[in-house]
Amino acid sequence: MTTPAEIQFKDVDLDAVATITGKLAVFVGDNGKLDAGARKVNTLTRKALARFVESEKFEKMSTGDVAAINFPVGLAAETVLVAKLSRRPSTEKARKAGAKLAKAQGDEDLTVLAGNIARADEIALGLALRGYKFDTHKTGDKTPAGAVTFMVSNPEEVAKSAAPMAAIAEGVFFTRDLTNEPANVLTTDDFAARLAAMHELGLEVEILEEDDLERLGMGSLLCVGQGSDSPSKIVVMSWNGGGDEAPFALVGKGVVFDTGGISLKTAAGMEDMTMDMGGAGVVAGVMRTLALRKAKANVVGLVGLVENMPSGNAVRPGDVVKSMKGDTIEVINTDAEGRLVLADVMWYAQERFKPVGMINLATLTGAILVALGHENAGMFSNSDELSDSFIKAASLEGEGAWRMPMGKAYDDLLKSRIADMKNIGGRVAGSITAAQFLQRFVKDDVPWCHLDIAGVASVKSETALAPAGATGWGVMALNRLIADKFEG
Ligand code: BES
Ligand code: MN
Ligand code: ZN
Repeated sequence: MTTPAEIQFKDVDLDAVATITGKLAVFVGDNGKLDAGARKVNTLTRKALARFVESEKFEKMSTGDVAAINFPVGLAAETVLVAKLSRRPSTEKARKAGAKLAKAQGDEDLTVLAGNIARADEIALGLALRGYKFDTHKTGDKTPAGAVTFMVSNPEEVAKSAAPMAAIAEGVFFTRDLTNEPANVLTTDDFAARLAAMHELGLEVEILEEDDLERLGMGSLLCVGQGSDSPSKIVVMSWNGGGDEAPFALVGKGVVFDTGGISLKTAAGMEDMTMDMGGAGVVAGVMRTLALRKAKANVVGLVGLVENMPSGNAVRPGDVVKSMKGDTIEVINTDAEGRLVLADVMWYAQERFKPVGMINLATLTGAILVALGHENAGMFSNSDELSDSFIKAASLEGEGAWRMPMGKAYDDLLKSRIADMKNIGGRVAGSITAAQFLQRFVKDDVPWCHLDIAGVASVKSETALAPAGATGWGVMALNRLIADKFEG
């Protein structure tokens, strides 16, 4: 697994500044004011820092940006990184500055002269998150990541508030690794094994195999994987850090590869369907974070792991399958497979755990990409309260989510001539009819949200806190939602 940089918090030692090697970072407010650390660097470099701060280059920097002064006189360090950031930055700006420092760090050691700046923990989180690199499949020399040390005036305090953030970074990295992993490596067996290994963190992990799923009557989930040589599974992860209350449920779509099945996708871009387990990846990452920070909440995470392949044994368009709920589904398009998986996992989650609420995540539709691009996940819900609290948590974490409409007229598009429903609605409102399909498997009294993350789970260019590829979108929002809702 890719592990986040381990960040040390130490006392400020200005006498050591001259001899620190690697890269040295200082913060300068938008007003150009230097703190004690920056003043020390300025003196040692014979005012190189002050010259930079007075330059047009500094003036043109936005808050959170980082610039480099290379091979400064008077310092052993090869580079001084100047981050433009006020003494009391917002969380967003603090993380942005941390992310820019991570990009500028390269493979060198980095010492951050943070002094008494507020939100040093958030700067460290941004640094850890942007430092992610998925290089497991690169051969050749891999330079180990440099060490990161923060010099702060209150190291114990900062280290304490940074600890839960290290748990967040590790959860996000876990999600990114799973989502980036190719499908010949992350098979359903391999995925389940990686989740089972979280037993070590105090999570209860249970794996339901195909015969269990058959006994439970999960004809909807099972039809998706029947064309694949990889066995379908459900993995149940429980974190019982709260009292005796019923848990909150997270449910993830874990299609390790989506060829479309007999309704085969076209060749162009099909390789991207290695990320079709992104919903399950987020659920796994959240569960990891909750365990690492020993959250005082009861949360159960369930993922449906399947592979959608065409074969002589694959489900056909026109086939009718029966879900665990008992409803029959006419499979019009075998490429609308995610909803078939989720239907059974969601029903099982409600029957077994009687959750106080449920959120499912899925790379469900290409249509949500058309609607919202890569900036926002689509959110569908039967509960104003749950959706409002999720939107709030997501916006505090800088993760976009936008609520989409639902309604009976959309649901009517799923009517089938021969079964209880079809698995697709037709050409229009593809993301909404997918959500309507899911809602048919949500009990009326369960507050529920569906997050369609097809546009945000993995992207082609870098984002504020991640390099190109898997983003880990949703781990931070869900972690915060759980903290705010149950640990207040
Ligand atoms: N996994 C795809 C959706 C997807 C598309 C995820 C692009 C990420 C990026 C999903 O299983 C799918 O194939 N959906 C179909 C539904 C259609 C057949 C109704 C789609 O969006 O085309
Ligand atoms: Mn599909
Ligand atoms: Zn899919």
